[in-house]
Amino acid sequence: MEEILKELERIEREALKDIERAGDERALEEVKVRYLGRKGRVTACLRQIGQLPKDIRAKVGKRANEAKERIQGEIFKKSKKFSERAAIKKERIDITLPGRRPYPYGTLHPITQCLKEICDIFLRMGFGLVEGPDVELDYYNFEALNIPPDHPARDMQDTFYVSEKVVLRTHTSSIQVRVMERLRPPIKVISAGAVYRCDADISHTPMFHQVEGLLVERGISFAHLKGILTFFMQQMFGSDVKVRFRPSYFPFTEPSAEMDIMCVICKGRGCRICGHTGWLEILGCGMVHPEVFKRVNYDPEVYTGLAFGMGVERIAMLKYGIDDIRLFFENHLRFLRQF
Ligand code: PHE
Repeated sequence: MEEILKELERIEREALKDIERAGDERALEEVKVRYLGRKGRVTACLRQIGQLPKDIRAKVGKRANEAKERIQGEIFKKSKKFSERAAIKKERIDITLPGRRPYPYGTLHPITQCLKEICDIFLRMGFGLVEGPDVELDYYNFEALNIPPDHPARDMQDTFYVSEKVVLRTHTSSIQVRVMERLRPPIKVISAGAVYRCDADISHTPMFHQVEGLLVERGISFAHLKGILTFFMQQMFGSDVKVRFRPSYFPFTEPSAEMDIMCVICKGRGCRICGHTGWLEILGCGMVHPEVFKRVNYDPEVYTGLAFGMGVERIAMLKYGIDDIRLFFENHLRFLRQF
């Protein structure tokens, strides 16, 4: 009995030393086979136990199992150390690599970009930028602009009413009278911002953006209006852009016109976007109506003025070839990242 216990002790000691010495996973595996494998030294001892006299069998068996468990445990610990080391090695950071730009990074929304671009062109032409409220008095949105109470634009179908006398502005023209109440000519301003109309389809959203222009001075004529807007379109869409002016009607301008640009999507051939006309209505404009001047005590015999208002989304759609206005407001990153 002494003999076999001593042998077990020796095996255990040597096994622990071998485990300690094993330099990698493969060497460790060899140690495992040598001691615990089918022909291993511990296994051989365990096999002998059956032949031992009954009275010492239990004691030797217990010791052999202890040795086996101890060796197994040490192998397991060492193996874990190896795999941890491998994982750390894999994770090593190479600080010599060039930095990676975090993505997604923030950019301006395409409508904001387009709005800035429009404003920049007019600012270069010497226009100043003014602001007005989104929640507007009926007076500035309609009444002062010569839009009578029974005008169809005031219909609940189009206008969001906050109360009887307060609306969400339906156009940026509401700034015209606000500006003229405060200043005397010469006036040369633009205003930009959100406007609201109860309408929703492929080319209308209940909120969209407009840029408004107002120029009042002695001797301003329709020729100035055409010149300024044609120059603007050339800056915005390139010098080969084709434009046309059509007679139109707005209660606050006389004469009034609508300006079209040739559909840049179908190049005038006709498509879904331009309603198969080849042209796209891009803005409304005209000479400031004498009735509007009278509201602010400007003498219509002395001063004349031009005004225009354009939809930013519409211009962005043309510029980028987008056929559904709703894409601007759904804000899917796959769409926005293209700008
Ligand atoms: N406010 C008009 C619209 O929203 C556009 C316009 C502005 C027309 C200025 C004439 C003068 O349709």
